[in-house]
Amino acid sequence: MKIFAHRGVSGHFPENTLPAFAAALQTGSHGIELDLFLHDGELVVIHDRQVDRTTNGHGLLEDFTPAALFALDAGNGQPIPTLWQVLQLCANRLEINIELKGQDTAPALVALLHRAQKELALRLDSVLVSSFHHPLLQRLKTLLPEIRIGVLIAHYPLDGVQLAVQLNAVSLHCDRGFVDRALVNLAHQAGIELYVYTVNQQRELLALRDIGVDGVFCNFPAEALQWLRTATA
Ligand code: G3P
Ligand code: MG
Repeated sequence: MKIFAHRGVSGHFPENTLPAFAAALQTGSHGIELDLFLHDGELVVIHDRQVDRTTNGHGLLEDFTPAALFALDAGNGQPIPTLWQVLQLCANRLEINIELKGQDTAPALVALLHRAQKELALRLDSVLVSSFHHPLLQRLKTLLPEIRIGVLIAHYPLDGVQLAVQLNAVSLHCDRGFVDRALVNLAHQAGIELYVYTVNQQRELLALRDIGVDGVFCNFPAEALQWLRTATA
């Protein structure tokens, strides 16, 4: 089962900061997950459009100048990182799941990934782009057909797996409250991997593994890996 460090090792470090991603490299996580907005031409890694929950600032991203945004404290004195900084740290070291939050992120992401391929030798097959905004994923796929995408859903639609197939996605990312063996089987029959967010409890993790879930997003990846090892020992 693939363990993605959700917003980095966000259970122990401030979410979506470089130390949280560096910690994921140490744990042996399969991958990291991060959230992406475009701010004044720069791709920035933060979960909310409103900065209040995760920083010492107040207001919307677009209310800040770049200098003021990067001066914010995102926890333990860490600034909000750019996607480029995360790629510099993590490229080719684990799978990087980039979740598009901002509606305008696709063209800038394509440009940055091309730059990373040139300057960091980034392998595109180590990147997985996901979003709840499915037309945005479709747009991205048009701009960069070889990019791997994952379809995020927060509900249990009649055609969840078909959504992923239609978009030529490799994975379907589901809320932990809405997953069952039937959905996993449908996904697998269609050649789609099924990932679940956000799984932080041992019993839940093992139950999902037992119904065939391929991966989970977890705030405590070291603990999750230990639970898996203990259960199989
Ligand atoms: O990508 C999985 C998960 O992060 C989606 O929800 O709100 O944590 O970004 P959220
Ligand atoms: Mg996310």
